[in-house]
Amino acid sequence: MDSSDRKLEATRLVDDIESMSLEERFNTYEETTIKGRKHKGILTCGRVYVAILHIIILMLAGVLLNYGLSEGSRSPDGPQRSWSPVQGFVEYKVSTEHATDPGHYSVYSGPPSEEQEEAWDRLITPVYFNISRDELTRAGESFENIIELTEGGYIASLGVYHELHCLRNLRLYVFRDRYYPNLTESQDRYLKEHLETLRISAMCHGNTAINSYKWDTETIDKPLTKSNSRSVCVKWSSIEDWSYSRRVFYVPPVRWPSQNQAS
Ligand SMILES: *[C@@H]1O[C@H](CO)[C@@H](O)[C@H](O)[C@H]1NC(C)=O
Ligand SMILES: *[C@@H]1O[C@H](CO)[C@@H](O)[C@H](O)[C@H]1NC(C)=O
Repeated sequence: MDSSDRKLEATRLVDDIESMSLEERFNTYEETTIKGRKHKGILTCGRVYVAILHIIILMLAGVLLNYGLSEGSRSPDGPQRSWSPVQGFVEYKVSTEHATDPGHYSVYSGPPSEEQEEAWDRLITPVYFNISRDELTRAGESFENIIELTEGGYIASLGVYHELHCLRNLRLYVFRDRYYPNLTESQDRYLKEHLETLRISAMCHGNTAINSYKWDTETIDKPLTKSNSRSVCVKWSSIEDWSYSRRVFYVPPVRWPSQNQAS
């Protein structure tokens, strides 16, 4: 593929992304008050796109199903994740929770308030736990330059807590007027760095639940997301209870390199 082909493909990708983010487009259109025919044009584009997506998904499903029947892709010889000390404690449940009602806020969302800050602080409190040498070895972690707790043991965090930490930092960034009134360049960079962790996580877990779309009302033609899909989710308390049982301080007392040399 030469560079002009690549350029073409990039342009097409951009077009696709635009037709996919219906809500964003409509918001833009609302601002510029272009209504009527243009809406229809975009919608048709969107429908064609959705139809093509459906066909691709069906074909993929067919391929996977065939593969599953002939090769046994669910066999335990498939890819294996690393061992984690929490894995024996995690419980699962079916969840139908969806963030599809823009007017509905959880304790973690909506305009910032003291209650919301407390909820986030509580959520993030057990972010670090005390991990033993044996557990680190079993999890396949290296000991190079590893940070030790002053009271013994090592500092670790679960993936989900790292993600929550990232989300929290992005929240602080979104509401930076309140949390960082004098945002410095390095703070700005630090807060934005957390986007990538969440992208990797979303693409790793590949949520396959279906969202569909509805008009806001019959008269206000703004698209909204809706979903009746059920997901299998961890029972959060099973992870949280374990994390609290092993937690160390939010700012854990650790041995600094100079202390290691001294001892
Ligand atoms: C971490 O756990 C070890 C036992 O594995 C214990 O000796 C140590 O005191 C603990 N450290 C902290 C900071 O709780
Ligand atoms: C931000 O800067 C202003 C003006 O220099 C100062 O009055 C204010 O105290 C600073 N706020 C914080 C949180 O540092």
